[in-house]
Amino acid sequence: MDIEHVRSRFIKHFDGTTGTLYTSPGRINLIGEHTDYNGGFVFPGAIDKGMMAELKPNGTDKVRAYSIDLKDYVEFGLNEEDAPRASWARYIFGVCREMIKRGVEVKGFNTAFAGDVPLGAGMSSSAALESTYAYALNDLFGDNKLDKFTLAQVGQATEHNYCGVKCGIMDQFASVFGKRDHLIRLDCRSLEYQYYPFKPEGYKLVLLDSVVKHELASSAYNKRRQSCEAAVAAIRKHHPEVEFLRDANMDMLNEAKPDISEEDYMRAEYVIEEIQRVLDVCKALERGDYETVGQKMYETHEGMSKLYEVSCEELDFLNECARQHGVTGSRVMGGGFGGCTINLVKEELYEAFIRETKASFAQRFNRTPKVYDVIIGDGARRVE
Ligand code: GLA
Repeated sequence: MDIEHVRSRFIKHFDGTTGTLYTSPGRINLIGEHTDYNGGFVFPGAIDKGMMAELKPNGTDKVRAYSIDLKDYVEFGLNEEDAPRASWARYIFGVCREMIKRGVEVKGFNTAFAGDVPLGAGMSSSAALESTYAYALNDLFGDNKLDKFTLAQVGQATEHNYCGVKCGIMDQFASVFGKRDHLIRLDCRSLEYQYYPFKPEGYKLVLLDSVVKHELASSAYNKRRQSCEAAVAAIRKHHPEVEFLRDANMDMLNEAKPDISEEDYMRAEYVIEEIQRVLDVCKALERGDYETVGQKMYETHEGMSKLYEVSCEELDFLNECARQHGVTGSRVMGGGFGGCTINLVKEELYEAFIRETKASFAQRFNRTPKVYDVIIGDGARRVE
């Protein structure tokens, strides 16, 4: 990301002085989708694309924020009733409020920011924005007293309380904790995590962006979460110790079947299976068994498409192209309803796969999917 780009706009839009620069990345997820809010495992990594912001305290009680990409300027106060209307500004406002709730004495500041994470492509541009500001405000106003988990939770709470998405912790966690060339397995129940070196020899990890925007997906996302909660409530009648779907198995779910809708059953079945797939993939990675990793990715796609129903025609098409080209693993990534597939491709197949998939997708849908080679990068930080 271009430091000069952010700095020059900051200077131009404010009083000509400079502030401090911070950045935080978007993420990929190898496997473990819709498992985070079910207390399960996820396996994300940060990417080399993200958000960058410059901030400088301005001695007032107002935040003056400029979105370089949208060329939009918003000014807001720091009290609950000062919430701005522009959705991009609500992320910054929400982070300020959540930091204040956790005891950081946030004061007014000037800020400009820009990003190179594609918006709405399932790479968590919003988590990148939240983590950038959570990290920055902790550094500028909090003496870095909040730990990294709390910073991730600030971003998640911003989504819940100011943006209407009842998301899990994965995206903000990956954005804050990311480490170059490593994926991170997170247990979303205990919050224990482990870094896994990830540099698959002879393979490439590539995202194919269906260019279907998933912005309107938040209500569908929240609905999936409700289904999982309904299944847990039914299971608890027989097994009161079950707190999340993570704690349940298929026998328990089958026992609860008469008490839940067919739809809720399918959602819960997917989640229970997906949590196990993450563990299987971690074991396979430890033995360098990429065939199994890939096979599990295809199983995830199938589950997300048929049971969880968060895929779409375009993503299913991209998945099918991967299968036909002998790609090792492929699946819809992130929340779904649009965005990207993530593909684990043998290097020798890469070029033909990309070329031919672009062509056949264009023929079918009249537009070309975007291609992003994944580079696993570092998490939130101050730019020195
Ligand atoms: C979105 C949410 C995450 C997670 C994924 C699906 O990215 O923000 O918390 O639930 O969807 O795995």
